[in-house]
Amino acid sequence: MSNTTQTETSKGGFGSRLGFILAAAGSAVGLGNIWRFPYLAAKYGGGMFLLVYLIFAVTFGFALMITEIAIGRKTGKSVIGAYFAMDKRFAPLGWLAAAIPVVILPYYCVIGGWVLKYLTEFVTGNGKSTAGGGEFFNDFISSPVAPIVFFAVFIALTAVVVMLGVQKGIEKVSKILMPVLLLLIIGIGIYTLTLPGAIDGLIYYVKPDLSEFSIKTVIAAMGQLFYSMSLAMGIMITYGSYMRKTDSIETSVRQIEIFDTIVAFLSGLIIVPSVFVFSGGNKDALNAGPKLMFVTLPNVFESMTGGQIAGAVFFLLVALAALTSSISLMETVVSIICERFGLKRLTSCLIVIAFSFVLGLLSVFGYSIWSDFTIFKMQILDFFDFVSNNIMMPIVALLTCILIGFVVKTRFVENEIELNEKFRSKGLYRVMIKYICPVCMVVILISSLFISL
Ligand code: PHE
Repeated sequence: MSNTTQTETSKGGFGSRLGFILAAAGSAVGLGNIWRFPYLAAKYGGGMFLLVYLIFAVTFGFALMITEIAIGRKTGKSVIGAYFAMDKRFAPLGWLAAAIPVVILPYYCVIGGWVLKYLTEFVTGNGKSTAGGGEFFNDFISSPVAPIVFFAVFIALTAVVVMLGVQKGIEKVSKILMPVLLLLIIGIGIYTLTLPGAIDGLIYYVKPDLSEFSIKTVIAAMGQLFYSMSLAMGIMITYGSYMRKTDSIETSVRQIEIFDTIVAFLSGLIIVPSVFVFSGGNKDALNAGPKLMFVTLPNVFESMTGGQIAGAVFFLLVALAALTSSISLMETVVSIICERFGLKRLTSCLIVIAFSFVLGLLSVFGYSIWSDFTIFKMQILDFFDFVSNNIMMPIVALLTCILIGFVVKTRFVENEIELNEKFRSKGLYRVMIKYICPVCMVVILISSLFISL
């Protein structure tokens, strides 16, 4: 196994630690932070959910992320090559992990297209048209051509960055977009808190409500963390393989987690109080699932002074967050194709664009011409989402913990971390990977299959 600095190889890599952190944070910060986290927090006990989430972030999330980044950096390989390099018997696990971004990328870009559509409406001064009881959203996703156009634009934006390469594309773009994203979110966060009545919503959001605490809070927080940190789909392995040998993994992981959690927390600070004000304190309005972003929020913007601008800034924020996540998904698939078939980055990108477009069309058609067609009572897009997040990802994470904890042993990861510093949380790490994480993964798997949250 080569221990050379990745930046010295033809594969290329991140040129700085900041670049690495912002790119990984760009992957982690996505629709999950801005839309999913706030409504889960509101649903499962406000401050209580925040607290449980934070505890998981610094234990469970920390251990899984550090594992993936160390595997990537140590093997210097894309996800399939990395599992093969660790233990040949686990090569199929590499394939399974590699299949996840292949499934997610197309439908993630479809949703990214929806966000672009809303952004366009708000930027062109038509934000009002998106308000109402969901007619705008339904008309848009069921129309034959428009969703395909916006989906294609979103894939194209993603592909341009990936084609430019790790340092000139991903790193450069992340260094610009991530600080912009943080500024935007702080800006609208402050604005929404000045709205009349917002403070009640804020209190509801941050105050722990013990009566709402249940095992479901724990399961929901665990599932959300896992998704939010982009774990178990080869992304952090891929980005880890581009990390410089001289940079600290442990500190970087802490910083990525802090970034991701701050954005999730601030998103809640925007969404919970504003929906609260709009609905006159009815917390069920927060429970709208995916509709929250595309149906409830446009109504909120419609009702607030300056809502047209706030809406435009908000959808810009969501679009940027989704873009940096889809970049990481595409990069993961492109790196596999480059490595396995010895193809150039550009050729691999073109292949990935072609099949993502075709697969994404299935999701688009699932809402338009094939809307009667369902799989296990799910729309095509929901089905892809369910299979990848609720089944494939917990399996990959579970088997990865077993591989690291009991086959190659935690030394494999520890040595990589100790290349440049003392591994401060080694004790915690061992217990997490060998015992707690596998149990958590089994719980997630069972709960997502049998209990609907
Ligand atoms: N971590 C992203 C989020 O919070 C989700 C994501 C999933 C990103 C899959 C990339 C790939 O939204």
